[in-house]
Amino acid sequence: MTGFFITFEGVEGVGKTTQAQKAFDLLDGKHPGKVIMTREPGGTSSGEAIRNIMLEAGNNGIDGMTEMLLVFAARRLHIRDVIEPSLKAGKIVLCDRFTDATFAYQGGGRGVDEKLIAQLQDMVQNTLRPDLTLLFDAPVETGLARIGERSKPDRLEAETISFFQRVRRSYLDLSQRYPERIRVIDAARGADEIADEIRTILRENGLC
Ligand code: TMP
Repeated sequence: MTGFFITFEGVEGVGKTTQAQKAFDLLDGKHPGKVIMTREPGGTSSGEAIRNIMLEAGNNGIDGMTEMLLVFAARRLHIRDVIEPSLKAGKIVLCDRFTDATFAYQGGGRGVDEKLIAQLQDMVQNTLRPDLTLLFDAPVETGLARIGERSKPDRLEAETISFFQRVRRSYLDLSQRYPERIRVIDAARGADEIADEIRTILRENGLC
């Protein structure tokens, strides 16, 4: 039995983490002990340390190329120690962000050459790709207003509106390139309506 790999993507403040948790609860109820929830950058103890370097406000020297190398270093550990063993054990893996975020943030947002990202993707992941990606899409201003209500912004959250607009554009471009994998969810709606749509998508994929 092979597992199923689902990723959650979108610009900050679109509610993806809340919806990922709801999806976890739903799936875990149907397949007890066979669903894991993880995140990137992170997912292993060294990966979480890399996440801190990447997101700590004040780490000003880190440019787009460095961010790309950091997230792929964390991703290698995450795939080797968590994602692949879980998929091999037949589990459903839910991951809050994955490589589409590198194309969107480092590629679209920072202007890193997409070919370099694609090369690292092949090197680190071989043929591993998500089976399904839920892309939460809403106007950038909506998401940023939501995170503004939370805590002090981290290094990426402190970026400009135009940065996040490039990130959003780049995510939408990816969804057009991979329509069979990436489902765009209108995240400007209420949480219950979004959760219903996700339940339908999971059902279409035979997961609940
Ligand atoms: P979040 O998922 O908790 O919003 O925070 C993760 C941050 O890391 C977010 O600002 C996006 C950023 N990120 C990248 O820039 N590239 C990546 O490849 C990944 C996985 C995340």
